[in-house]
Amino acid sequence: MQDLLRAENISKTYGGVFALNKASLTLRPGEVHALVGENGAGKSTLIMILAGSAKPDSGHIFIEGRPADIHNPLDSQRLGVAIIYQELDLFPNLTVAENIVIRNLNFPEGPFVSARKLEAFCRPFLEQVGYDGSLRAIAGRLPIGQLQLIALARALSMTARVILMDEPTSSLAGDGVERLLGLIRKLREQGTAIVYVSHKMDEIFAICDRATVLRDGETIGVQEIRTTSPETLIRMMVGRDLEKRSRSASQVTSEVILSVSGLTTEKLSNVSFEVHRGEVLGIAGLVGAGRSELGAALFGLDKLKAGEIRLHGRKFECRSPAQAIDRGIGLVPEDRKIQGLMPQMSVLENGTIAVIRRMQRFGFVQRDQELEAVAPLFRALNMKSASMRIPVKALSGGNQQKALLARWLLIDPDLLFLDDPARGIDVGAKQDIYQVIAELAAKGKGLILVSSELPELLNCSDRILVLSNGRVTGMFDAAEATQESIMASAVGMRPGDRQ
Ligand SMILES: Nc1ncnc2c1ncn2[C@@H]1O[C@H](COP(=O)(O)OP(=O)(O)OP(=O)(O)O)[C@@H](O)[C@H]1O
Ligand SMILES: [Mg+2]
Repeated sequence: MQDLLRAENISKTYGGVFALNKASLTLRPGEVHALVGENGAGKSTLIMILAGSAKPDSGHIFIEGRPADIHNPLDSQRLGVAIIYQELDLFPNLTVAENIVIRNLNFPEGPFVSARKLEAFCRPFLEQVGYDGSLRAIAGRLPIGQLQLIALARALSMTARVILMDEPTSSLAGDGVERLLGLIRKLREQGTAIVYVSHKMDEIFAICDRATVLRDGETIGVQEIRTTSPETLIRMMVGRDLEKRSRSASQVTSEVILSVSGLTTEKLSNVSFEVHRGEVLGIAGLVGAGRSELGAALFGLDKLKAGEIRLHGRKFECRSPAQAIDRGIGLVPEDRKIQGLMPQMSVLENGTIAVIRRMQRFGFVQRDQELEAVAPLFRALNMKSASMRIPVKALSGGNQQKALLARWLLIDPDLLFLDDPARGIDVGAKQDIYQVIAELAAKGKGLILVSSELPELLNCSDRILVLSNGRVTGMFDAAEATQESIMASAVGMRPGDRQ
């Protein structure tokens, strides 16, 4: 069978450092091909080159055996290649429908035609991906899970032969993931080839046919999924066996750091719970269940309609994030691009931005002190960055996530709300982050950990609170909970309910 797409000897350097070093990738028609590797291995760079949004220094791309001239995203679209970027590239000021048609060769009129025409074009694709919001909603106001669906609908609307997906499930939960995997199976039956960049082994083994492994910009090998194992892929990715660490005995004390009672906001109703010193409280729930909204309420971003929050026993009425930080609450947001990092500023500045006042003397930031403070944290997290002075947007997705986490570790709050902190992080680095969480708890911090991955919640938490539709539907001891019992609560079933 002729290869649908072949990329050969692709090299790309940034400032003299190899992001890709003679990497290769072949795609057969109708195959789902996993592209795996550690954070910074070059996965995003490779597919951005295929999509015409990054320029290789050398190498060749062939489509159906013919050399493909790809210089920009429109070239690749013309050749039938569509991409869903890891850091979604939607226009925050445009509506959902406008985002789908802008620079879309299948909709030559562009975004400024009648709303009816726009919607007629977009609706089938949005329905296909399960987006149930308004087509006229402004993209920038939607949660990231919804944006992911819109980016997917946009790719589908381009009727591509090849769809490149960069961690497409990283901000989807449960039902959204299942739907996407179903959609991918259907696309495969229709002969579409898919490159599936992911760190999630269960998804890769559920839908992929083959996997290409990148390490330090080089193609290490290609495996048939049917005859390989997650362990083999991981060993190829990291170049060694990975030891599995699980949390050592936790040291939850009886001292309450945070107590929330009857908390009610636009999205939450009557939520009550406590977090103790030394405790990791996991939060489970489907997308839209109110997990991130809980963080927003604690952090002074959402107004309380009723209920109260007590911090160390004292009533806490928080009106702004600055106030929350002052009182010792930290929040690592879910969406590092919109709510977290300053993309143009350096890795170092992003790390220290929140503690800058502490480091200023006579109005000047002490650069040495800045470096001294951040360096050990970056080491603990195994940050991979050519230099601390490059803009943070030049880091790979997983390393950006680590930079964001490092910032909060530096602020050193008593209570830290982590909204999906291991999103987009490779298998090895996940263990680093779990270790950091365990160490914080051991140091007597209180942690709230939101995660869409149940094994992660079960592994890291002491107790797990389940939200469904803004309400608490379950509270489990993590040692006794199972994925099934948590899922049952997450879909709103109470104990004893039968389906
Ligand atoms: N614009 C840029 N400027 C400088 N360096 C860059 C730039 N883009 C990528 N890099 C570097 O190239 C390397 C490969 O990055 P890439 O984003 O392809 O990794 P990745 O495999 O997608 O990782 P992740 O799993 O974290 O998303 C990284 O070391 C990254 O820092
Ligand atoms: Mg990437």
